[in-house]
Amino acid sequence: MDDERAAVERLERLTGMLRRRGVVLPAFEIHGGAKGLYDFGPVGGRLRAKVESVWRDHWTSQGDVVEISCPTVTPFAVLEASGHVAEFSDFMTVCGACEEASRADTMLEAHHPNPDALSLADLQALLDEASPACPACGEVSWSPVKAENLMFDTVIGAGSSGRAAFLRPETAQGMFTNYPALYRHFRERLPFGAMQLGRGYRNEISPRQGMIRLREFNMAELEYFIDPEVEAAHDLSPWSNINVHLVPAESEPGPSTIPAALEAGTILHPTVAWFMARTYDLMLALGVDADRLRFRQHARDEMAHYAMDCWDVELHGSYGWVECVGIAHRGCYDLDAHEQATGQRLRAWRSFDAPRTVEVDGWTVEGAVAGPAFRALAGKVKVAVEALDASASFPCSLTLEDGNVVEVLPEHVKRLQRTVTEAGEWFVPHVVEPAFGIDRIIWHLIDHAYEEAGEGDEAYVRLRLHRDVAPVDAAVLPLFEKDGMGDRAREVHRRLCSLRGVQAIYDGSGSIGRRYARADEIGTPCCITIDHQTLQDGTMTWRERDTGEQERLSIEAVEARLRA
Ligand code: GLY
Repeated sequence: MDDERAAVERLERLTGMLRRRGVVLPAFEIHGGAKGLYDFGPVGGRLRAKVESVWRDHWTSQGDVVEISCPTVTPFAVLEASGHVAEFSDFMTVCGACEEASRADTMLEAHHPNPDALSLADLQALLDEASPACPACGEVSWSPVKAENLMFDTVIGAGSSGRAAFLRPETAQGMFTNYPALYRHFRERLPFGAMQLGRGYRNEISPRQGMIRLREFNMAELEYFIDPEVEAAHDLSPWSNINVHLVPAESEPGPSTIPAALEAGTILHPTVAWFMARTYDLMLALGVDADRLRFRQHARDEMAHYAMDCWDVELHGSYGWVECVGIAHRGCYDLDAHEQATGQRLRAWRSFDAPRTVEVDGWTVEGAVAGPAFRALAGKVKVAVEALDASASFPCSLTLEDGNVVEVLPEHVKRLQRTVTEAGEWFVPHVVEPAFGIDRIIWHLIDHAYEEAGEGDEAYVRLRLHRDVAPVDAAVLPLFEKDGMGDRAREVHRRLCSLRGVQAIYDGSGSIGRRYARADEIGTPCCITIDHQTLQDGTMTWRERDTGEQERLSIEAVEARLRA
């Protein structure tokens, strides 16, 4: 059998196992299912919870990051300000024969090295030239390519009072709209971060590849707010001897450690390097195979609308290299955008080393005239007038920070010339964001851990998941359910389940060999077997998943190991 066929068959067996054992399965299956929606079942639910818990602990241990939680339903205005209404699209074409919609770039993957980066016009030209067959019906009849926004829209409220809204395409916007609360929480000192785990939604045009492209998915994002003028003080020395696979956008692969790539200017910012390094550690702590992890830098024309630099963590598995994490330098894009849309100040204060003397030559308002003329807007008119330089002339139209436009006449203003001493200034912080696709990471943890041995009736599957993410911590197995061994095993099972953070299963069905195999198949790190000797001296067998080695332990020793 050729390698490709063998890989497809392995993938079929793996997805079959995940479905049969209740790890990951298509959602709403009894109603025919829905593309791009998956359930984590009775085993997978805990796998996801444990992955998220490792993620959460990893980042909170940094000490300057807090977790928040925001609604998934998001008003139109928020996502209009963020640029998602205008920019968050894929290019779509529809088959004239069967009406199946497809992503134009996906269909052209065999005809271009990176069709994802092509403009609409270039995609259209390539589609016309390559004439790929419809993946659903095989015909070649395509509608003109058009940009299709990927957000699910909805309405907040009923009837004519309803407000347009979307299901959020990323959790990040919640961190930006919470910036004032975060700034207060951190006593108005940068840097600090906020993170959020939760659902994101993208109405993918043609989801495929199982858990890789979902319409509702689990995200985990961290927004780290920094002062762009302060040199970041991250200690990258622990990573200076760790070779990683780096794929820069515009140069040949060069230095192979993160600190060296920063030094060489391939990684553009130390905080991006810091989050790459910390993400590398996290991936290994979750159980990712380091040899199947690489960092790939986005080309300029590939970057999201908000990004200045972006490195993806790609993991290799059954679907090739897949983006699982994006580490983006978002600059001041988001806070700036929300500030402009709302008129709220989303800034931080930077104190100067020594007060600075500044000559002001400009304009201010003539209070006695401007106050009655502009009433409630007078304060904002003053801010706008004082932002003008000496060359301004009146009358003129001014757009205020809240978007109102006012006509300012010569009698509303007077010249302002003075010397002021400034202790500091307000600025818009920059943001570095590591954003994680939890479902994709989980897929690769499983894919990397899945090991088959033997064939046919002898086939044996072991899921070598890291203990910290294994969905079941221990299986308690009575050798037989007679002579009091079943009762004793149930007692041990109850006792282990009462330990904080431990979930054990009881399995008394079938031969002991089959029960070991069932436990190994879903990655249970150890089996505890209750046998005749247990009834005599209280000891039980501890069997290791990965080696099959067995030893006898007291219940106290078993508890201590599971707690460790
Ligand atoms: N916040 C990153 C993303 O939406 O992919």
